[in-house]
Amino acid sequence: LPEHTCSWLANKLTLYKYQDFWAVKQLHEGGILAQQSFKAEPSDVFLCSFPKTGTTWLKSLAFAIVSRAKFDESSSPLLTNLVHECVPFLEREIDKIEENHKKSNFPLVATHLPYSLLPESILASDCKIVYIYRNTKDVIVSFYHFMREAVKLSMEDAPFQEAFEEFCEGICSSGPYWDHILGYWKASLERPERILFLKYEDLKRDPASNVKRLAEFIGYPFSADEEKAGVVDNIVSLCSFENLSNLEVNKSGKRKAGSLENRLYFRKGKDGDWKNYFTNEMKEKIDKIMDEKLSGTGLVLN
Ligand code: A3P
Repeated sequence: LPEHTCSWLANKLTLYKYQDFWAVKQLHEGGILAQQSFKAEPSDVFLCSFPKTGTTWLKSLAFAIVSRAKFDESSSPLLTNLVHECVPFLEREIDKIEENHKKSNFPLVATHLPYSLLPESILASDCKIVYIYRNTKDVIVSFYHFMREAVKLSMEDAPFQEAFEEFCEGICSSGPYWDHILGYWKASLERPERILFLKYEDLKRDPASNVKRLAEFIGYPFSADEEKAGVVDNIVSLCSFENLSNLEVNKSGKRKAGSLENRLYFRKGKDGDWKNYFTNEMKEKIDKIMDEKLSGTGLVLN
């Protein structure tokens, strides 16, 4: 497989290109294993995303929605666990998902796999898919800090400009970003009832309406009584950046698998942080790339 070692990360990360997408070896292997052996159940709901577009938030909201009959905002497992321990990743935790299939009716499965690499059993199913996406420039900044912190480099030792250039070449985990989005976007045009597109910025601007949309789409709509009782607002508050990022588990905890600290999933949680990092030339370059890649597709993303 074509490989690329990221010099801006002091050569501490090597990515491989498989079927047009870049990722670390373990994720490609996990994706291939999923393709070979994963059997989707009709009740499964897939939360799909490119890294750093709001995966943690989407997973938290969906978890709070589907488990609300069992837990409320004072007893939610989200208060004591990183959400990634509550909602399994297809590329890493097939066993856990199969256990969920057997033992419970917990429907959520998360993945960073591009649409074209999803297991056939998902593609052939009627399962609901939710895809979250985000302003490209904010994704780049978020990615930069996440990767840099993951390999423990300071900002001085990890040149942002170089990270940016690689992203523009499509080289980053799960990249190219535009192809990842377009795979799901084109599939959603063919079967709009099956794939919901949620935008990070829309969730920020109007969380309650988007949480209602999400709940309805995945088959867990709120009743009028629940709405009156403030259940939607409670879920929005429970899953807010302010709340989750200040929980002890997310400030100081560590994933059981791997060495990543939980805090890395919660940095600023803001819209527009890119303005603190981009020069005019960088802005123009990535805007031009995205315009070209998305032109004629009906999808607008800045
Ligand atoms: P920033 O680095 O811009 O702060 P992912 O979950 O896909 O890895 O994306 C991580 C990004 O989502 C980070 O963005 C993180 O701070 C932000 N994030 C995490 N939880 C969030 C929440 N509950 N609400 C809003 N943003 C959140």
